[in-house]
Parts: sequence; C-alpha cells; structure tokens
Amino acid sequence: MSAEKLFVEPGARLNARAWTKGLAPSRRLALVSEAGAWRRFGPGVEKALMRAGFRVHRHLLPSGEAAKTWDSVSDLLATMLSAGLGRDSALVALGGGAVTDAAGFAAAIFQRGIPWVSVPTTLLGQLDSGLGGKTGINLAGGKNLAGCFHRPRAVVCDPEVLASLPPRERISGFGEALKYGLVFEPAIWASITGNWDALMAGDPVLTGKVVERCAAWKRRVVDSDERETKGPRELLNFGHTLGHALESAAGLGVLRHGEAVIWGMRAALRLSHRCSGLKASFAAEADRFLATLPVPLPRRIEPRRLLELARRDKKARGGRARFVLLRAPGRPVTAFVSDREILRAVREIL
Ligand SMILES: NC(=O)c1ccc[n+]([C@@H]2O[C@H](COP(=O)([O-])OP(=O)(O)OC[C@H]3O[C@@H](n4cnc5c(N)ncnc54)[C@H](O)[C@@H]3O)[C@@H](O)[C@H]2O)c1
Ligand SMILES: [Zn+2]
Repeated sequence: MSAEKLFVEPGARLNARAWTKGLAPSRRLALVSEAGAWRRFGPGVEKALMRAGFRVHRHLLPSGEAAKTWDSVSDLLATMLSAGLGRDSALVALGGGAVTDAAGFAAAIFQRGIPWVSVPTTLLGQLDSGLGGKTGINLAGGKNLAGCFHRPRAVVCDPEVLASLPPRERISGFGEALKYGLVFEPAIWASITGNWDALMAGDPVLTGKVVERCAAWKRRVVDSDERETKGPRELLNFGHTLGHALESAAGLGVLRHGEAVIWGMRAALRLSHRCSGLKASFAAEADRFLATLPVPLPRRIEPRRLLELARRDKKARGGRARFVLLRAPGRPVTAFVSDREILRAVREIL
C-alpha cells in the first residue's frame, strides 16, 4: 500500500477537488460520518464533493465506540450495496477516530477493498488515528480486536474544524502529540509545553503546526513498518502499554484515549529512568508538566489488574511485559520490564 497524501491547511475539507483526484472512476462515493461531526461539517463537505463532480451517498454511524461494532459496519455495507457502489467507487470518512476506524474497515472489506479518504475532525484523529491505515472494530473481548490494515489515499486535516472541540478532546489529542515529542522530536514537546495556554484556547496556526509535525512522523514510521512486524511502528506505543491497560480497567469510554496515554507516559518516564537510563532530571521535569494537566483518574484501579493487562499487551512475549522506553528524549528503545518495576511505577502514579 502506498502512503496517504496529507492535506493540512485551514479550509482543506472544502477543497474536495484536490483530495479526490483520481479517486473513483464511477464518480460515486459513500460519505460516512456520525451526528456530532455531521451537524457541524457534513453539509459543507457533501456540497464540496458534489461540486467536485461526485454523486454522494450519505451514511451516519452511531456516535463514539458504538460505531465500532459488526452491526454498524454491516448497516454501512448494506447502504453501500443498495446505493449500487462497486469497486470503482470510494468512501470518505468524516469524524473522529471511531468513525475513521469503522468506516475505513468497511472500505477495506467492501468488495474486497475500495479506496477511501479520511477527514478527521478531532485532534487525536488528525495527528494519529485518522492516518496509518489501522482500521477496525471492537469485540466483546476488547478494543480493536478485529480489523484490517488499509491505508487511506488521502488524509485531510483542516485545523478549522478543531475550533469546536471540547477541552477534554483537545487535551486527549495533545496527550498523543506529546508522545511524538518524547519519542521522536523533542521540539514538538517544547512547542506544546511552551504554548499550552494558546493551544488550549484553540490557536489554529500553532495547532496546525503540531498536527503537521506529528502526522508527518506517523506517516514516516508507518511507511517503514506498515504492518507492525519490523519494529519501528511499535515505537508509537510509548505510554500505551499501561495507557491501554488503564483505558480497559476504567471501562470503555471513561477515559479518553489520549488521557490514558498521559497517565501511561507518566509511568513510562519512571520506568525509562530506572530501566533504560533516562536522566532523572528530564524524567522529573517531563512528569511535572504532565502532572499539571487536568486529567481525571478513575477511582479504585487495582495495580495488579494493570500489571495483568500489561502482560497481555500485544508487545508482550512469553507472558513478559515489554515496554517502549526512552534512553533520552527522541531516543526510544523497547525493553522487557519486571513485574516488580511495573507495580512500583503504577503505584506511584495511581
Ligand atoms: N486507527 C488508529 O491508528 C487509532 C489510533 C488511536 C485511536 N484510535 C481509535 O480512535 C477512537 C477515538 O477517537 P476520538 O478520540 O477521535 O473520538 P471519537 O471518534 O469517539 O469522537 C469523540 C466525540 O467528538 C465529537 N466530535 C468529533 N469531531 C468534533 C468536532 N470537530 N467538534 C466537536 N465535537 C466533535 C464526536 O461527535 C464524538 O462525540 C477510539 O476508538 C480509538 O480506538 C485509532
Ligand atoms: Zn494512541
């Protein structure tokens, strides 16, 4: 699969002619969204697509994680089939990570795969979940357990759509962005921590710059390891071993994804100092910033439960928990970590 084209600029969502170039010979497509994103941006994008010469078949998924089920994907596939869409058609997904995951999955399996474009409307979506081609749904046994790798042709990141994001969604997105700063490019960390108030107030220029840097890193890493078999893609998992564990232990939807990653990074910074040589002064300074963020921590989380979940993480080998850690800012490694160290770090952050 080839890398997605990135379109990052104010108003990009309305410039459909640019991001649909060569997309669907039949000039027909499914425009898939959910109520929250549709109400704000749907009609504008639909009109832009029609002006670009497409016949558009609209379909709304349920909001949030409810989009990521067999039933809702099955309804979407039925809409596409009854609209007469085929291999020569395409799909455009407009919404947060839940929409792009579920709709991208439908694009991956409809008639064995049709092209799609991702138009992420959340910050998390623009810098992370809307690109890279991991698509899928949740199963009763856990999140994201069924899916396909199917990269979008283009990803359209329009900073204008982020103006309406509630603060929690914004913090969740910057939580993920801070990860890119720690793992790949310390300048991203500096530009977020140094401009926090302006970013939280929605400054579109500064936000667009952060989105551009993080999305470029994600694309580069995915290009070198599309199916997460060679190593580099694993590095995107910094803060995620315990972050995912917390997300599951708290119950689906209680913590936003990036909020859980913020807690996971606080633990991973401690582990990086103790197990992979990260300087104590940097670990403490980074932790001090993360600790100031208003991120709720669900009560009554049992440290041993988090340990158990960490040992079942996809990076674990033979029941031993493996973490992405830092040797220094911008210098990640993967390492096995003992149960004792994990419990110690977890107890310190809970
Ligand atoms: N595929 C990947 O690589 C990947 C990576 C990380 C996370 N994810 C997935 O992403 C999902 C979370 O995505 P999310 O955080 O974007 O949440 P989401 O898609 O659930 O959307 C959150 C809420 O924001 C609202 N919303 C969307 N755009 C808005 C806007 N511009 N203004 C105001 N409200 C808006 C929606 O209506 C919804 O209620 C999870 O299912 C997670 O598993 C996927
Ligand atoms: Zn993440």
